[in-house]
Amino acid sequence: MQIHSSIPELRSTLGSRGRIVFVPTMGNLHEGHISLMRQAREHGDRVVASIFVNRLQFGPNEDFDKYPRTFEDDCEKLRAAGVDVLFAPTERDLYPEPQQYLVDPPEIQNQLEGEVRPGHFRGVSTVVLKLFNIVQPQVAVFGKKDYQQLMVLRNMTRQLALPIDIVGGETVRAADGLALSSRNSYLSSSERAEAPRLNRLLNRIREAVLGGETDFVKLERATAVELDNHGWKTDYIAVRRQSDLQVARGANVPLVVLAASRLGAPRLIDNIEI
Ligand code: PAF
Repeated sequence: MQIHSSIPELRSTLGSRGRIVFVPTMGNLHEGHISLMRQAREHGDRVVASIFVNRLQFGPNEDFDKYPRTFEDDCEKLRAAGVDVLFAPTERDLYPEPQQYLVDPPEIQNQLEGEVRPGHFRGVSTVVLKLFNIVQPQVAVFGKKDYQQLMVLRNMTRQLALPIDIVGGETVRAADGLALSSRNSYLSSSERAEAPRLNRLLNRIREAVLGGETDFVKLERATAVELDNHGWKTDYIAVRRQSDLQVARGANVPLVVLAASRLGAPRLIDNIEI
């Protein structure tokens, strides 16, 4: 695996050969990321990963400095997963001057995850567009675990006519259904035992909708109450359209149920497509 931090060096390694599949990350990699690398392999000849902890997508209350940096471990995992090239720029490489030109996503950036993380999707969209311009991939893979991020980036790519196919990578789950996340390591053993309830309840909503239930608000409220009765603090349970995450009026378009809830300190997110 070749590793580059400088943009010109990366560009000269990549040249114009082959079909490049790009998987951007912020490092601190777990099995969910590695599965994205494996899925990437199916879409092209050269898998390029990046590791960059992007200051722009952190809010003032989110600790950018405390984000775990595990570079050596991450490199080992990427090597083992057969990644060809790793782009790991420093802040000076990627933001040599203050980034004043920003990508401003539409109003959905202020809802769901955006409601608790103002400015987050502007920071994500800006860095991803910049990474796309540097790596110039034909395909890019983003996990479905961060469904809103995937939707924002897919729609950005389409609206800005970028010649890149966006692929949604399936979420990797523990045997009991809990979606893998670096935040799971902060759960106590009793919280870890409780955590799969989130995915179970999302599955129950899915079954209800497939069974003909159209009162989504009722389903959302009942699920939030049930979680909170088991010690969770729910931010949202939302049945939305897959295409743009707008409120769904019926089940005649592809839907997704999105959830974010706190169990103790960790805030867990999950979703299920219908
Ligand atoms: O999902 C992430 O790790 C980040 O938001 C991304 C897409 C790498 C942008 O910094």
